Amino acid sequence: MSDTDILTRRDGALLELRFNRPAKKNAITNMMYAALADGFEAAAADKTVRAILITAEGDLFSAGNDLMDFAAQNSGAFAGPRHVERFLERMIEAEKPVIAAVQGDAVGVGATMLLHCDLVYVAEAARLITPFVNLALVPENASSLTLPGRIGHVRAFEMLGLCEPLRGAEAARLGIANAALPPAEVEPRARAAAHALAQKPAEALRLTKALMRDTHAAKARMKEEMAVFSERLRSPEAAEAFAAFMERRTPDFSKLG
Ligand code: COA
Repeated sequence: MSDTDILTRRDGALLELRFNRPAKKNAITNMMYAALADGFEAAAADKTVRAILITAEGDLFSAGNDLMDFAAQNSGAFAGPRHVERFLERMIEAEKPVIAAVQGDAVGVGATMLLHCDLVYVAEAARLITPFVNLALVPENASSLTLPGRIGHVRAFEMLGLCEPLRGAEAARLGIANAALPPAEVEPRARAAAHALAQKPAEALRLTKALMRDTHAAKARMKEEMAVFSERLRSPEAAEAFAAFMERRTPDFSKLG
């Protein structure tokens, strides 16, 4: 990764984390997870930061985990510490409000992270896509708990089992997003809401968020999912799914399982 793939910057009392790898649809590499985790840790440690704003450059919010990184983990070629879990934990634990501006499609962890945000503004036509099963994987980031909790089992299974996309307008109707907007309005609206939160009494806001979120349950489910996910990452089915993506063809699971 280049060290600009995640831009971390201050906007008044906001800490902004911006996906900035548009040529790869903001797919998230291990080092990008590290930068995101560092951002959340910096925000937690700095009293002058009152809210965290997540934004993205380009036409997609994020294509989710980098599939080359997944393929390297599948083949055993991946070396060094993995930062994804540190990021997911820091985001679940975040005591300060987190606001997302989703100007385009959000895939995989790009979609599931929205369930840990406190305010979400989405483009009307953007799709939230959770293709874990299509990749021979399982849900992550506590989404097997948070998504059915938010929209009910059968709608959640449409996303997590059938891997059907959810449009921005429908996401707003179902309570995953606050509003579905024309794309150009998404980031200004999210930024304005974040600045409005930054004016509130910080301790009252922190306690309100703590009362509203079951952090313990979310972390426990995230770890449970991660154990299964890590096994699935090394499976022959996943190897076929990753090879198919790289070769731009439809996967063939017929001889597996
Ligand atoms: N990991 C790594 N690279 C990715 C990526 C990912 N998750 N998503 C997109 N890219 C790369 C493509 O390989 C391509 O690279 P190239 O230009 O060097 O060939 C570039 O980003 C553009 O992607 P492309 O597929 O041509 O764009 P698109 O607009 O036609 O489709 C997506 C966009 C997001 C629908 C499609 O890229 C996709 O399905 N990506 C995989 C999403 C996914 O399964 N994520 C993991 C979830 S767990």
